[in-house]
Amino acid sequence: MIAKIEQLLKEVETMHASNAEELEALRIKYLSKKGAINDLMADFRNVASDQKKVVGMKLNELKTLVQDKINALKEQFESQDNGCDGVDLTRSAYPVELGTRHPLSIVRNEIIDIFARLGFSIAEGPEIEDDWHVFSALNFAEDHPARDMQDTFFIESHPDILLRTHTSSVQSRVMEVSQPPIRIICPGRVYRNEAISYRAHCFFHQVEALYVDKEVSFTDLKQVLLLFAKEMFGADTKIRLRPSYFPFTEPSAEMDISCNICGGKGCPFCKHTGWVEILGCGMVDPNVLDANGIDSKIYSGYALGMGIERITNLKYQVKDLRMFSENDTRFLKEFEAAY
Ligand code: DAH
Repeated sequence: MIAKIEQLLKEVETMHASNAEELEALRIKYLSKKGAINDLMADFRNVASDQKKVVGMKLNELKTLVQDKINALKEQFESQDNGCDGVDLTRSAYPVELGTRHPLSIVRNEIIDIFARLGFSIAEGPEIEDDWHVFSALNFAEDHPARDMQDTFFIESHPDILLRTHTSSVQSRVMEVSQPPIRIICPGRVYRNEAISYRAHCFFHQVEALYVDKEVSFTDLKQVLLLFAKEMFGADTKIRLRPSYFPFTEPSAEMDISCNICGGKGCPFCKHTGWVEILGCGMVDPNVLDANGIDSKIYSGYALGMGIERITNLKYQVKDLRMFSENDTRFLKEFEAAY
């Protein structure tokens, strides 16, 4: 019975009449002797006594709503000749439009879901960080160009405090307080001192993954990468690893996937190579383990990091990065059905 009342409540919220006849029809439908409310009143007698209070309250709510709505509509008709030509005063203010999930949240949740199924749990760290967690603990040499003022936003009065440039900082935050096995996924916002254009922004989002345990090998990494690519971009997706350099991993690699737009045949999106880059990865450098209190003689690990905007672009072909932070509802609404 509650369900029936709920359904009527919804119906009544959005009901509208465009003339006096229609309004009268509504009154008869709901409030007359043979109307819906009277029917419910009759059914109410059969409601179990412990339910009577709850059902009774709902029923009253419905009755009041119907009466209010009908009175409001009646008033509108009576004052219709008020010179508001072309304005439909009888139009309901309902239904209220619901918001939609942001595309970056949709993709972030998808990434998290995939890793959660593999036993990774979420870890988070601060966006305002210190040099140690963003750079030093991750084996960045003192003179590494990434520390350069050009890339990093420093807090002027405290050169040791900065806005994190990557979520790899969460690796050291977690390692310094826990011992293996560590299996974490770290989503979050990062900042870089870049000129804003359609392809770069001064803030964006990353997801970092870290796995440290005994006998973790590059094979484990590759396995997870392949599974991730297939889950995210479809079962036919292929991956390829190219040697690369990151201070915190050794060896390091960048991963490409077969272009999900042309299926690897070559198109303008993949610059006719058939491949698109999606993430950086590698085996955690033993220096990083030791610097964070984990014995590199016993443990090894892998790490990987990706930009959420990049993955979202690949999935949905958003041409201008700025769209993600402009909150234009016409853009956001396009993702209504995605999740
Ligand atoms: N932190 C890197 C960046 O912001 C991404 C990255 C590369 C993370 C390799 C990793 C990794 O964990 O192994 O560009």
